[in-house]
Amino acid sequence: MKEHHLQISFQTTNLASVNSVDQYLLTKAEEMAAKAYAPYSEFKVGASLHLSTEQFVDGNNQENAAYPSGLCAERVAIFSARSQYPQADIQAIAIYVPTEGENIMPSPCGACRQVLSEVQSLQSFPIRILLMNKEHKVWIFSGADTLLPFSFSARHLNS
Ligand code: THU
Repeated sequence: MKEHHLQISFQTTNLASVNSVDQYLLTKAEEMAAKAYAPYSEFKVGASLHLSTEQFVDGNNQENAAYPSGLCAERVAIFSARSQYPQADIQAIAIYVPTEGENIMPSPCGACRQVLSEVQSLQSFPIRILLMNKEHKVWIFSGADTLLPFSFSARHLNS
C-alpha cells in the first residue's frame, strides 16, 4: 500500500490589511449578504466576483420554501457572471459569511467548490478565493483546487 500526502496553504489577514481591490470586493460581498433572501435559515451570505474584464458581478443566497430549490450566494454570483459575460475569466471571488470567531473559517459548500473548480478549469489562471467573517477576519486561498483537491470533471466522464 502506498501512502499519499497533500499539503495546502492559505493566508489569514483582515479587511483593513488587504489591498484596495480586495477590500472593495470583500465589502461588496458583505453588502450583498444584507440583501440575501434567507427567511428560512436567516443565514445571509454574499459573494462578489472580480472579472478579467474589470467588471464586478455579485450574488447572495436565495432560499425557497421547497428548501433544495434555493441556491448559495457563490453559485448565484458565478452563474450570473457566466451567463452575462461568458468570455470573461474570474480573477477573484470574495465571500462574506456571517460566522464569528477565529476558529470557524467561512467554508463554501462542496457544490460551490465543484462549480468554482469547473469554472477555473476554463481559464488559464486560478481563481483567488477570499473568505470573510463577521469580525472582518479574512482567509485567502490561491485557487479552487486548494479548497477541492479531488473535483469531479469532464475528464471522468470521458474516461
Ligand atoms: N450558504 C451560502 O450561500 N454559501 C455558503 O458558503 C454556505 C451556505 C447558504 C445556503 C443557505 O441559504 C444558507 O446559507 C444556510 O445553509
